[in-house]
Amino acid sequence: MENRIAQLQLEVDRFEIGNLADLEAFRLEFIVRKGRIAGLFGQLKEVDPADKPRIGQLLNALKVSAETKSAEAEALFTESAAREHVAIDLSLPGRRAFCGSEHPVQKVLGDMKHIFSAMGFSIATGPELELDEYNFDLLNFPPNHPARDMQDTFFVSRGQEGGDVLLRTHTSPVQVRVMLDQKPPIRVICPGKVYRNEAISARSYCVFHQLEGLYIDRNVSFADLKATIYSFARQMFGSDVKLRFRPSFFPFTEPSAEVDVTCYLCGGKGCRVCKKSGWLEIMGCGMVHPNVMRNCGIDPEEWSGYAFGMGVDRTALLRYKIDDIRLLFENDLRMLSQFTA
Ligand code: PHE
Repeated sequence: MENRIAQLQLEVDRFEIGNLADLEAFRLEFIVRKGRIAGLFGQLKEVDPADKPRIGQLLNALKVSAETKSAEAEALFTESAAREHVAIDLSLPGRRAFCGSEHPVQKVLGDMKHIFSAMGFSIATGPELELDEYNFDLLNFPPNHPARDMQDTFFVSRGQEGGDVLLRTHTSPVQVRVMLDQKPPIRVICPGKVYRNEAISARSYCVFHQLEGLYIDRNVSFADLKATIYSFARQMFGSDVKLRFRPSFFPFTEPSAEVDVTCYLCGGKGCRVCKKSGWLEIMGCGMVHPNVMRNCGIDPEEWSGYAFGMGVDRTALLRYKIDDIRLLFENDLRMLSQFTA
């Protein structure tokens, strides 16, 4: 009897339960009421009464070990089955991926860059934290020009070695850096943020975007500038826009002009946006001043060039019918998510 118990124990121990079908086979063989362990219990009555307690104990131990093995396997399979079930639950609703959108200013900037890139301009960038020298001095601003005033410029630290540090008020210092860095011919656009200490309202903000262009080569004339601006304006605002060049002044260009396009909201008839004039101002431009060329190590007798600079944000406001410039800088998702493609 003891041998049979030991033999059965060995079989119980060796039985491999790898899945639910194995488990069922194990239970049928050893654990059920007509199983082999119950069979041995049935033989207990033939055992010598003196040996019965000891044999009974051995049998019990065998029964407990088989039951434990079965229970452990069952727990394992039901748990992993539950886990598998979670992993492939096709009835769960999908998780919606958050999808960002391009900012309206970046959309307009992208179009502008695209148009000028196709005309052969490359893109240059520079620091937003600038030295007075690049933002003003080398651009031929006289020492007491009002644009240097505290009212317009955010000075960060004054009287440093190497000049005052400020937030650039326009992207023209990038052109200075390009001219100091490269030999003509030069053909670049400089997009970026600029800062001015102005009263904040629906129409003006302390930070906005500009895109400037610079072209320096031999025999560049004002006619080249006009042709470039015309080509840009037709692609940007529509093939039937008209342009108006008004004489103007910038320290770094001579002659200088401001450019208007026929209002593309009312087609030039006059509306609230163009203040009934039919025209919208889009940029300043002019021929690069000889002093600026000299300041940047370019001989104005040999080279000539034009520069232009335009605001980006107002075009974004007009194009997308946004009535407050501050909305462009608040990063409110309720506003931005309206611009998903
Ligand atoms: N830098 C000028 C501004 O900020 C724009 C400009 C650029 C005008 C280049 C002429 C030539 O207003």
